[in-house]
Amino acid sequence: KWTAVDDFAFSQSHPASRANAQILKDILSTSTAKGLPSYALSPAQGKFIALHCRVAGVTHVLEVGTLGGYSAIWMASENPKLQVTTIEYNLEHVKVAKENIKNAGLEDRIEVLEGSGVDVLTQVREQVFAGARPLFGFVFIDADKVNNWRYFQLAREMVKPNSVICVDNVVRDGQVVDFADLDPSVKGSRQVIRRAGKEPGVDSVVLQTVGEKGYDGWLWAVVS
Ligand code: DHB
Ligand code: MG
Repeated sequence: KWTAVDDFAFSQSHPASRANAQILKDILSTSTAKGLPSYALSPAQGKFIALHCRVAGVTHVLEVGTLGGYSAIWMASENPKLQVTTIEYNLEHVKVAKENIKNAGLEDRIEVLEGSGVDVLTQVREQVFAGARPLFGFVFIDADKVNNWRYFQLAREMVKPNSVICVDNVVRDGQVVDFADLDPSVKGSRQVIRRAGKEPGVDSVVLQTVGEKGYDGWLWAVVS
């Protein structure tokens, strides 16, 4: 039923008005054939973060975990002036993402930085501190879950006041509260929930989600 509701509700929300609708569909339908794991956002989730960028007046997005570029393309194509800086470790994924971004005509607004999240975030942070890049207005963390908290900490030094840092997949089919479950991804998700919840200057909430991607959820943190 979750998938049926996603399909119905999404199909009713102006799909034809978007020039990018077919490109976004094609990215999802070809991703398995291109060797990507099926970890991309659902269409509803992609639209949600794109709408968030619009209402929050975001001009620069930082993303950790590009995969095939689906989320980045959502945000950039729905917001004509938005710039996305997205980081990807897996070079096969980088290749697919760059192809998708090119097909979407968004090469000038989506920058894919190759390398490990911690290394690249550290470099980007230096550039921000040096004034070579503006502060970001939204951060989407959707990479290896083990490093969630390190990514969060690095990202929060590079955002404007009152920006959202969103972390994907923190509920993991409820495994997050199975405290005997020491799977590294589960631990990384539990850790970012706990630490963000105690961090001064951060106000966070976890929103559980159901949909075509099953049962999961987002950490949604506002950084002052
Ligand atoms: C996993 C990672 C994701 O980013 C996602 O959206 C779903 C699952 C995973 O590592 O299991
Ligand atoms: Mg994810």
